[in-house]
Amino acid sequence: MWSSLLSFHGTCVLLLLTLVSMNDGFGVEAVKDFKVGDDFGWQEPGHNNTATYSQWATRNRFHVGDSLSFEYKNDSVLEVDKWGYYHCNSSNATVAFNNGKSVFKLDRPGPFYFISGTPDHCKNGQRLLVEVMGLHPISQSPPAIAVPPDSYLAPGPLPSSGSLVSVTLLYSVLMSLIIVTIT
Ligand SMILES: *[C@@H]1O[C@H](CO)[C@@H](O)[C@H](O)[C@H]1NC(C)=O
Ligand SMILES: *[C@@H]1O[C@H](CO)[C@@H](O)[C@H](O)[C@H]1NC(C)=O
Ligand SMILES: *[C@@H]1O[C@H](CO)[C@@H](O)[C@H](O)[C@H]1NC(C)=O
Ligand SMILES: *[C@@H]1O[C@H](CO)[C@@H](O)[C@H](O)[C@H]1NC(C)=O
Repeated sequence: MWSSLLSFHGTCVLLLLTLVSMNDGFGVEAVKDFKVGDDFGWQEPGHNNTATYSQWATRNRFHVGDSLSFEYKNDSVLEVDKWGYYHCNSSNATVAFNNGKSVFKLDRPGPFYFISGTPDHCKNGQRLLVEVMGLHPISQSPPAIAVPPDSYLAPGPLPSSGSLVSVTLLYSVLMSLIIVTIT
């Protein structure tokens, strides 16, 4: 029972990944600038929201060439190694910002680790791990047509948010199917 459930779940995840990569194929923007935490910005999360930044990271896909914008007050951003991230220890920081608005360019694939320079903030969840993937599909080959994507996609909703909604919908439908199957 559990193994079939697990493989069904695996299928859903595969399906989701396929959808997400299809979305990627549209290559709406070559390079993105992500505002870390969206409207929440870069600050110590509340005690019941300690997963804020890991949730934010899983909602986004990062590619080489994208950048992260950290916006904060009376705080800091340090780029650290994996050890520093898990221990909230800044002794091995490679980059440090405290100017309130810091842009960090994701210049290679692989993981990047950021923490707040205030140890208590980091321990309460103000730390970010992003996994950076290879170049955006669109930046690997020259665009076939010179028309900016926005002009022929308008006035519909942004393709990325539209697909996100449908992926989320699909996922909840599949998950409720699973629940119906179990009960
Ligand atoms: C956070 O937890 C406290 C107590 O556990 C609760 O009173 C409060 O409503 C929670 N806040 C949110 C945003 O969930
Ligand atoms: C800035 O942060 C420090 C240390 O966390 C704190 O002592 C100070 O009161 C803060 N200042 C403001 C204006 O929030
Ligand atoms: C960070 O790690 C270094 C090296 O292990 C250690 O000396 C230092 O005390 C640590 N700092 C904090 C704030 O834990
Ligand atoms: C910090 O970096 C140095 C050199 O890369 C390494 O030898 C040391 O173990 C690191 N310390 C921590 C606490 O990660």
